[in-house]
Amino acid sequence: MNDYAIFVKKFYIKSGIDLNLYKEAQMKRRMVALREKKGYASFLEYLKAMDTDRQLYEEFLDRMTINVSEFYRNPIRWQQLEEDILPHLIRSSQGKLRVWSAACSTGEEPYSLAMLLSKHLAPSQFSIMATDLDDVVIEKAKQGKYHERALIDLPEEFQKRYFTRRGDDYYISDEIKQLVTFKKHNLLADVYERNFDLIVCRNVLIYFTEEAKEKVYTSFQRALRPGGMLFVGGTEQIFQPKRYGYAMKQSFFYEKIDG
Ligand SMILES: C[S@@+](CC[C@H](N)C(=O)[O-])C[C@H]1O[C@@H](n2cnc3c(N)ncnc32)[C@H](O)[C@@H]1O
Repeated sequence: MNDYAIFVKKFYIKSGIDLNLYKEAQMKRRMVALREKKGYASFLEYLKAMDTDRQLYEEFLDRMTINVSEFYRNPIRWQQLEEDILPHLIRSSQGKLRVWSAACSTGEEPYSLAMLLSKHLAPSQFSIMATDLDDVVIEKAKQGKYHERALIDLPEEFQKRYFTRRGDDYYISDEIKQLVTFKKHNLLADVYERNFDLIVCRNVLIYFTEEAKEKVYTSFQRALRPGGMLFVGGTEQIFQPKRYGYAMKQSFFYEKIDG
């Protein structure tokens, strides 16, 4: 086994994260660049150093996946969500609308959902769970501090109503913060909660191998209530959605049809 393969195996034992489930070429390229930047000649040396240096380990976790996010990323899809998908979900929901933002990064996505849902529902009528693998991004999300560039596509009404500007930073209001519950969750290893009306999982499945992706589609399908909807990223259309128990409702929106 080569240095990288041994590293992947030992890293799994250490972290519970299976790097084999991510597309190898991309992942390896990023990891080699990071290892070289840190000055380690081999992955095994790098891993050894992580055993005693917690910061090095956390930095690795943080860089392992790309954390870039924005409020209202691909605004046309959010418009579709508001105009076509949400009314349908509200009509067919039984009780509270349960929403999950999976792989939420620094919070732009679940907070966008909170602002949008607040326009149509009272806080008592919905709940938003937001999860990510990475503790560092979850902490940032809870802080709710953003650079202007993250807000570029956010409707002005929301910017004005829910943000306070201090210097170059924009702080999200407590009113929105308290509508989101953040938790750590690994999509490739942890148990999924059930009975969601809407699961939003965007711009993470592209990093997974085909096999891992298929497992996630199936787990999301089980986690949705019948008629619930999965909202995926702009390059993540599901090929043959029926195979996993979905019907395409609109591009990038998939409805649970059986099971
Ligand atoms: C590019 S961000 C996407 C953020 C947001 N969903 C969006 O579309 O703007 C990808 C996120 O996926 C998370 N991630 C990567 N692998 C994961 C896994 N196995 N389980 C949960 N989250 C994961 C990363 O930590 C990162 O925050």
